[in-house]
Amino acid sequence: MISKEVAHYLEQFIPERDEQIKEIERYAKQHHIPIMEVVGIEMMLQLLKIAKPKRILEIGAAIGYSAIRMAKALPDANIVTIERDQGRYERALFYINKTGTSEQIRVIFGDALNVYNDVAKYAPFDVIFIDAAKGQYQRFFQMYEPLLQENGLIITDNVLFKGLVATEEPVENKRIRQLVSKIRRYNEWLIGRSDYETVILPIGDGIAISRKRGEKQ
Ligand SMILES: C[S@@+](CC[C@H](N)C(=O)[O-])C[C@H]1O[C@@H](n2cnc3c(N)ncnc32)[C@H](O)[C@@H]1O
Repeated sequence: MISKEVAHYLEQFIPERDEQIKEIERYAKQHHIPIMEVVGIEMMLQLLKIAKPKRILEIGAAIGYSAIRMAKALPDANIVTIERDQGRYERALFYINKTGTSEQIRVIFGDALNVYNDVAKYAPFDVIFIDAAKGQYQRFFQMYEPLLQENGLIITDNVLFKGLVATEEPVENKRIRQLVSKIRRYNEWLIGRSDYETVILPIGDGIAISRKRGEKQ
């Protein structure tokens, strides 16, 4: 993981967000809603600008922050995003309307493990971004990968889980300890998938970028 000092150093180079985006960041902070860290999202947006996806699936909308950031960075892209918490879902709709991104973003309310058929109507996707319950990453990946284009990307957030996956020291909290094991197993499984090329970047909370190998490669 990059140190706090390095993250702080990098943050000064991140372009100032507009007032509407800053309002969402403030709301997330005040209400303890986990949204992507600024350095992590800037890296992901840059990657997406290079990849130029037209259709993105996000698993885990929260209040719509990352979906709105993606929509603004990629005006030609459409984003389908899933959220199971009603309050967050409604807040996401509110901010999506407010930021004028409702033409680009469709929010599906429900558990990602139950809404496959609704999501499949919008497939195929060029990018799938997994940012929901950490213990379920492998299930999300396996459920939705059939909807990914050849050479598409699957991006997974939080794969270093505050660095805990790399520490030898025992974690006291049982729930956290179980999550750490699940994320470790997910990372090993992901790296072991020969039909994807995966790199894990120590940015934000750790971001895995998996590129589906095309048949010709
Ligand atoms: C880390 S937050 C998403 C943050 C968002 N991507 C952003 O950066 O602005 C994770 C969200 O996923 C939602 N979530 C967790 N498991 C889910 C599931 N199985 N189906 C749908 N949503 C889920 C949670 O309610 C939470 O709001």
